[in-house]
Amino acid sequence: MTKAIRIHAPGGPEALSYDDIELPAPGEGEVRLRQTAIGLNYIDVYHRTGLYPIPNLPSVIGLEGAGVVEALGAGITELAPGDRVAYANPPLGAYADERNMPVDRLVKVPDGISDEQAAAIMLQGMTVEYLIRRTYNVKAGDTVLFHAAAGGVGLMACQWLNHLGATVIGTVGSEEKADLAKANGCHHTILYNKEDIAARVREITDGAGVPVVYDSVGKDTFDASISSLSPLGLFVTFGNASGPVPPVDPGLLSQKGSLFMTRPNLMTYTAKREDMVASAESLFEVVQSGAVKVAINQRYPLAEAAQAHRDLEARKTTGSTILLP
Ligand SMILES: NC(=O)c1ccc[n+]([C@@H]2O[C@H](COP(=O)([O-])OP(=O)(O)OC[C@H]3O[C@@H](n4cnc5c(N)ncnc54)[C@H](OP(=O)(O)O)[C@@H]3O)[C@@H](O)[C@H]2O)c1
Repeated sequence: MTKAIRIHAPGGPEALSYDDIELPAPGEGEVRLRQTAIGLNYIDVYHRTGLYPIPNLPSVIGLEGAGVVEALGAGITELAPGDRVAYANPPLGAYADERNMPVDRLVKVPDGISDEQAAAIMLQGMTVEYLIRRTYNVKAGDTVLFHAAAGGVGLMACQWLNHLGATVIGTVGSEEKADLAKANGCHHTILYNKEDIAARVREITDGAGVPVVYDSVGKDTFDASISSLSPLGLFVTFGNASGPVPPVDPGLLSQKGSLFMTRPNLMTYTAKREDMVASAESLFEVVQSGAVKVAINQRYPLAEAAQAHRDLEARKTTGSTILLP
């Protein structure tokens, strides 16, 4: 038996049920993990509400964690009991004291990075890695617009973009979040509930607009994002915190200056093991060098995952959040 947070049906935070579940012995190619920290991510909300449907319920949710290898399934030579590992990908099941994971979806956590830090950065940090280096290869001197700049993905993005030599324009929901984003390398902040985002971006860029917009807010920021791009700019829509973006008329991309649009996700960018390992290594490097500092600004007991979800959805959190088994 182990403790886990499951959903039996989609719903509000009350749908998160703290259950005793049977954990089978690890199968072939799997290891049993004793988890020491679990990452909270906005995708957990989409799974809970049913925006991203889970085919078989009840199901433990969560895609990110760190812990210690406790037992090995058949055929495992890559890892040994006692190894510290972390992950940020399916299968679902991170919200648990213990779980089994396929060995090819784990990376070893290097010295100098704690379990809590690993659980806080793997998903959000590898997302930043692929967004700013592979979806669009940001170069020194570029000016980029990054929405929700004080969030988990946002704070890491501000620091990493700053490290690359880019100028970062970040949107935020409050003055306090603006201060936090600025302290993390965001050069210009826009309060999106008070200011006209596209007008401010044009002002900051002397009318030019930006070559790339990273938008995880979705529905509420779509128009402003499209209107902030320079000709041939790239609109990267990678999340739905305010709701999904409605269907887009391709003619709009033409009118706004022959724009490009992509809807990427971390699973595709880390599907090949070599890509996942390379992404994690780049992330560990910028954290170990001090270029990107990990902001674990909220910690909750795993049993209180519902409160963590309430706070995330109410925009009360900043930086990264972890759940502790
Ligand atoms: N596609 C991918 O590969 C991928 C991977 C990781 C994350 N994501 C996406 O990236 C986004 C950030 O993830 P995260 O885990 O780091 O979360 P987060 O940014 O820490 O939290 C979401 C933030 O979005 C902002 N927001 C704007 N409108 C909102 C609304 N109506 N309701 C709630 N929040 C709103 C809030 O900041 P303000 O108060 O400052 O507005 C809030 O703090 C999410 O949309 C997530 O789905 C996508």
